[in-house]
Amino acid sequence: MKYIAPSILSSDLSNIHNQLKELEESGCKYLHIDVMDGHFVPNITIGPPYIKSLKKHSNMIFDVHLMIENPEAYIDDFVDAGADIITIHQESSPHLHRLIQQIKDKNKIAGVSINPSTPVDTLKNIIDDIDLFLIMSVNPGFGGQKFIKSIENKIIEASNMIDKSSKDIILEVDGGINKDNINNLKKYDIDIYVSGSAVFKNGDIKENYKYLMEVANG
Ligand code: DX5
Ligand code: ZN
Repeated sequence: MKYIAPSILSSDLSNIHNQLKELEESGCKYLHIDVMDGHFVPNITIGPPYIKSLKKHSNMIFDVHLMIENPEAYIDDFVDAGADIITIHQESSPHLHRLIQQIKDKNKIAGVSINPSTPVDTLKNIIDDIDLFLIMSVNPGFGGQKFIKSIENKIIEASNMIDKSSKDIILEVDGGINKDNINNLKKYDIDIYVSGSAVFKNGDIKENYKYLMEVANG
């Protein structure tokens, strides 16, 4: 089964309760939550208190994408807030191995993400330690950007790296995925497609979600 993880970055935060309900009614399993600090990326979003309050209203798996500097200082806060998956950036952590262990010690799924300009093989020595590999297909910071076509080569590389590893690692791709290009991405072994604006911005949330799910699994 392939999954669409809607990113709440493009949701209507003043109406989030109803929007999450629509996703749950559609059978949505993963909710992608983008955390930005205004340092690692040029945008600021939400933090643990907001996630904690969302958790009270949702049974979805919270896929928390940390685009922040100094992530090691905040792992426990995000665990306490209800994160199920915690993804950190290779570029923001000089001690990735320790940080991955820190997340796994809390029995959470540990993900590592790489920016468009970061080579896939920067994770080659750590691939067996991670649970999820997140490939950014836009420069992180904003929703609604265009998918960077050359990232398809990195998706292939990451998929090969995962195949060679001894572990079952989730491959996730984030940024610019929409109704027009998801069909072309199906040939890669992507487990989770993050999609923000294509779910929340144009038209009906349920229909958008269902359409993307159908194509991903078709
Ligand atoms: C970008 C975020 C993405 C973003 C995706 O920094 O990590 O999760 O919300 O939004 P779309 O699907 O609109 O590119
Ligand atoms: Zn994201």
